[in-house]
Amino acid sequence: MRVLVTGGAGFIGSHTCLALLEKGYEIIVIDSYINSHKRSLKRVVEIFTRNNIVKHIDIEVGDIRDEKVLDKLFLRYKDLGNPIKAVIHFAGRKSVKESVLNPLLYWDINVNGSITLLRVMDKYNCRTIVFSSSATIYGVSNCLPLKENAKIKPINPYGRTKVAIEQILSDTFHSHTNKWKIANLRYFNPIGAHSSGMIGESPIGIPNNIFPYITQVAAGVLDELKIFGKDWPTSDGTCIRDYIHVMDLAEGHIATLEYLNNFEKKIVNLNLGRGLGTSVLELVDTFEKVNNVKISTNFSNRRIGDCCTLIADNCLALSCLNWSPKRDLVKMCLDGWKWQLLNPDGYQ
Ligand code: UFG
Repeated sequence: MRVLVTGGAGFIGSHTCLALLEKGYEIIVIDSYINSHKRSLKRVVEIFTRNNIVKHIDIEVGDIRDEKVLDKLFLRYKDLGNPIKAVIHFAGRKSVKESVLNPLLYWDINVNGSITLLRVMDKYNCRTIVFSSSATIYGVSNCLPLKENAKIKPINPYGRTKVAIEQILSDTFHSHTNKWKIANLRYFNPIGAHSSGMIGESPIGIPNNIFPYITQVAAGVLDELKIFGKDWPTSDGTCIRDYIHVMDLAEGHIATLEYLNNFEKKIVNLNLGRGLGTSVLELVDTFEKVNNVKISTNFSNRRIGDCCTLIADNCLALSCLNWSPKRDLVKMCLDGWKWQLLNPDGYQ
């Protein structure tokens, strides 16, 4: 089956492309490379080549807001008699901080981009989409772990664009005479890297997220990790997140595509997390122990927009999908460190 992956050169996108190729899907990636690296997909193909397997990814460099580019892409594969049957939609901006500073950019790229994509998909009768949503849409909640029907209350523009796209998808599903198959995957905190150390997270500039920050401190690229707050109402005073290995998350996308295939029409929201909470101090401690490295830390003020605890109730995903997360925190720390050691400058 031919699948279009928007934003496929990014961190989660590249790992998902690998998982798709492993399962025999034919893939096309559209990526603007504004926030990703050309090398990531080359590396994906190389992982197969090293094992004497020939795989190919068609790549279109472009922006999903450009309707003409998308139209030409869908037309090309239709004319080849091998039309695009489904889309995994990652393309979009993802920094909370940047979204607060530049909300219009976020609404334009994330929401307008998605609308354009849906319009072209509809035109070409491609109505299966797996959308990259986020646990950030739940905002601050007292009910933990978070079920999919928990209150949706995002606290930043980035989260609000994700909610808007979920709503557009829902309206499309309900209003349309055509039959759509839609999955909103609400990611918790993906970290780690593929076990080969060939692909991983390669942030442009200083990382915003904790895991690449930790690996760069361990490697001596950055001096120390600032821990945002030590007075949160948790057992050690630091925030708790539900970390999931990026390959488990990637495999969740394939399981979702397979699940949607069982239906004529369907819309579903699924939390993809492990359902386990880890504090910042526990993460640092595990990373140090399993990799035998030292992470210098310092406490600083709470970060604006942070919430105390985010843990997934992943029961729905476990029961619907032929999927469960297989890799633990130790594996996430080992694989993430291997990637850092083999690629001190990421893909640059
Ligand atoms: N943290 C630090 N120091 C840092 C970076 C982070 O202490 O330098 C802490 C944060 O306060 C938080 C935890 O580490 O408690 C995780 O922070 P991340 O920035 O890695 O992840 P977030 O949970 O804030 O957000 C991430 C993604 C979002 C996504 C969200 C979903 O960045 O895009 O998970 O839960 F929406």
